[in-house]
Amino acid sequence: MERTYIMIKPDGVQRGLTGEIIKRFEQKGYKLVAMKLTKPSKEHMEKHYADLANKKFFPGLIEYMTSGPVCAMVWEGKNAVLEGRKMLGATMPSDSAMGTIRGDFCIEVGRNICHGSDAVESANHEIGMWFPEGVCEWTRCDEKSLYE
Ligand code: GTP
Ligand code: MG
Repeated sequence: MERTYIMIKPDGVQRGLTGEIIKRFEQKGYKLVAMKLTKPSKEHMEKHYADLANKKFFPGLIEYMTSGPVCAMVWEGKNAVLEGRKMLGATMPSDSAMGTIRGDFCIEVGRNICHGSDAVESANHEIGMWFPEGVCEWTRCDEKSLYE
């Protein structure tokens, strides 16, 4: 089954939104297979956002992302990558639909509270980076009701 890397950014953790975001993924039907609260190093964060290294906002992004703990998670389920991105909403909160996490809970792109992998390939790369120890395999007792 597909897995995606979802991260609650330092502003999301500081604003007490961790439970709300976890709740949405749990209630959708996705399965939490890894989770930890960690304060990422500058090097780790630069590696995570390496594709944005030449952007003007990159130094600010790294400073923001290393300012406090993040909640790193892996969620598993059918189409978890694409559906996870839909649940987070558009990158720019001004474009995020109401009902999405960003649409409901934030205002500025530089403080958009959550991250989600943008493709299966990047999800696998990010999961390996954040959880080199691997994930926890288990069966949700409602899987027979979630999938036909
Ligand atoms: P992530 O899930 O965090 O990877 O966001 P994304 O995939 O929706 O967007 P992208 O990977 O292009 O950008 C990564 C992060 O950089 C965004 O979530 C924002 O936090 C930040 N970012 C992107 N564009 C801007 C910008 O124009 N200004 C600022 N200040 N931050 C930006
Ligand atoms: Mg991205």
